[in-house]
Amino acid sequence: MIAELMPEGVAVAESFGDPPDARLFPGEEAAVRNAVDERRREYTTVRHLARRAMVDLGLPAVAVLSGDLHEPLWPSGVVGSMTHCLGYRAAALSLDDRHASIGIDAERHAPLPRGVLTKIAFPAEVPRLAELRDGHPEVHWETLLFSAKEAVYKAWYPLARGPLGFQETELDFDPGSDVFTAVLRRTGPVVAGRPLTRMTGRWFVHDGLIFSAVTIGRDAP
Ligand SMILES: CC(C)(COP(=O)(O)OP(=O)(O)OC[C@H]1O[C@@H](n2cnc3c(N)ncnc32)[C@H](O)[C@@H]1OP(=O)(O)O)[C@@H](O)C(=O)NCCC(=O)NCCS
Repeated sequence: MIAELMPEGVAVAESFGDPPDARLFPGEEAAVRNAVDERRREYTTVRHLARRAMVDLGLPAVAVLSGDLHEPLWPSGVVGSMTHCLGYRAAALSLDDRHASIGIDAERHAPLPRGVLTKIAFPAEVPRLAELRDGHPEVHWETLLFSAKEAVYKAWYPLARGPLGFQETELDFDPGSDVFTAVLRRTGPVVAGRPLTRMTGRWFVHDGLIFSAVTIGRDAP
């Protein structure tokens, strides 16, 4: 799934359920002490998966706490991203000498709730979505737009340490491939000596789920 969207060097661990051996590490319990059962399970499973990815990268498995804006706090030298939705959890990690940042997102492949599109779409995106829908009516393009923007935001935040509005990112999907481009309408952080102005991502729809992933290379963002 998300593993298929990732370049070499990224360790991905994913799950369609909650493995019974998934455990919290010291420090993680506080975040979900008062949480409902589903939140507790997704939080625990996705960290279990992140630790599998750490081991795949040859690193020790450690706790994954959260920062001020709920971003995952990775060990020094590691970049990564996590996602969870009903029936799916995933973590994707890399070393920071290969990738500057990663963002992944998974959503149920279903229509976007009424009224959400106007909040998340940059004006120029709306007619393009209509064209995409005409060509490929089997894809819920509005939900894919939402998912891809979530992935962009998760890659953006650890680098920029600041907000990125839904309407500050203009996405363009290439109808002939699984690639999307995000043009950033806010001054980006410097990566490889240049301000980040765009990101490239990939997407995939399978078995009732939409997957989106963005990787920012260390040398060629
Ligand atoms: C944070 C946010 C992106 C999470 O996405 P989601 O689809 O609701 O939920 P997902 O299950 O896919 O992802 C949740 C995980 O995202 C990660 N995450 C949360 N905040 C994050 C941040 N600021 N930066 C990077 N990753 C973050 C966490 O790992 C979280 O899981 P955890 O709480 O168990 O650690 C979303 O809730 C949000 O706040 N969006 C508004 C901002 C935005 O998307 N702007 C788009 C501009 S293009």
